[in-house]
Amino acid sequence: MATGDSSPLRLSSRTSHFVLPKQWASMRKAEALEKETGKRVIHFEKGDFQGDEFYPAPHILEAASRAVHEGHVRYVPGPGLPELRDAIAEEATKRGRPTTRDEVLVTMGAKHALTQSLLTMIDVGDEVIFPNPGYPPDEFWITYAGGKVVYAPLVEPDFHFDLDSLKNLITPKTKMLIINSPQRPNGMIVGQLEEIAQICLEHNVMVLTDEIFSHMVYNPAEHKTIAAVDGMANQSILVDTFSKTYIMTGFRIGWCVANKELITAMDIFQQNSVTNVPAFVQLAALAGITGPQDHVLTQTARLQAKRDKTVELLNKIDGIDCQTPDGSFYVFPDIRGTGMTAQQFADYLIENFQVGVVAGTAFGDRGEGHIRLTYACPDEVLEEGLDRIRRGVENL
Ligand SMILES: Cc1ncc(COP(=O)(O)O)c(C=O)c1O
Repeated sequence: MATGDSSPLRLSSRTSHFVLPKQWASMRKAEALEKETGKRVIHFEKGDFQGDEFYPAPHILEAASRAVHEGHVRYVPGPGLPELRDAIAEEATKRGRPTTRDEVLVTMGAKHALTQSLLTMIDVGDEVIFPNPGYPPDEFWITYAGGKVVYAPLVEPDFHFDLDSLKNLITPKTKMLIINSPQRPNGMIVGQLEEIAQICLEHNVMVLTDEIFSHMVYNPAEHKTIAAVDGMANQSILVDTFSKTYIMTGFRIGWCVANKELITAMDIFQQNSVTNVPAFVQLAALAGITGPQDHVLTQTARLQAKRDKTVELLNKIDGIDCQTPDGSFYVFPDIRGTGMTAQQFADYLIENFQVGVVAGTAFGDRGEGHIRLTYACPDEVLEEGLDRIRRGVENL
């Protein structure tokens, strides 16, 4: 934040990199335009579900309400309720990373798990390899901790790591590699997990694996965790969330699994910051993870159909080329055929056709030439928004 030394606030120098999140700039712009003009905006820029068809399952809502009424409104143990930690340990074990309760921390969403992982691991001068394009909050906390962000370019069309350049980025100062599979903003699964694991094991690099879309993966693609590769259980921090799988974005609850000493350190961090995730939220999450999973399957099928429709309609537009993502609720079409930059195209769409999208450059310079659209919205909104984009391109 450009306050300078003369600022009467005397903010910490660690805030010198603070700017409002770039990836939400489109949302701020779309909301302002909607307010000022009263025009109906199609919100493809939001990283959230929209509409009544995406709602937590009734048994999750009932568990939350029951928990509040039964008095689960006090402080509880920092790392999470034992029964929830056990259920998460079982989930991680099913993914192939044998896990016990003391290797699990329940957090305020995946974002807080990522924050705590970075703040407990990264020293001043440590290097962290970060995918480009990637998830900006990770960069934010690496910088805050005094670490250095080292960008690993993801290679199109499927946005995989290039293993040779990955190896070349490793120095004696490299402490961590961040991966996110399926990835944001492009929805592609990270391939070559075995090879990436070997590189990290050889150089003693910790892998922070963000798996928030683990259950939003579409047939025939399959979710796999690097934490399950031989030798990686103690060399990884597996992060996931209830936000996406159980449509609980507003509940703010996620988790991570790692070596128990690391979890203890992160728990100390948690107890000194947020204290604990609210018990009634944890009990709702427990109902989600231990209850019937048909809601999750229905949601995945619904999202897959919307993904297919989105990809098909975008590919019918001259100047747009959209790969089919393996998972998540995003598409990341290539718009270079329009002759515009990502930001120009995003601005053009919101200003002239009232469609909010995020410029790919909000996620790193390798996002140039792309926009990110979230398709987790009602079909009629999806169709109208895609039609506005078609008209927008035709009008160029
Ligand atoms: C890659 C990635 N990681 C983490 C998060 C944060 O998830 P949560 O809602 O669990 O904090 C998001 C949110 O969309 C995300 O896209």
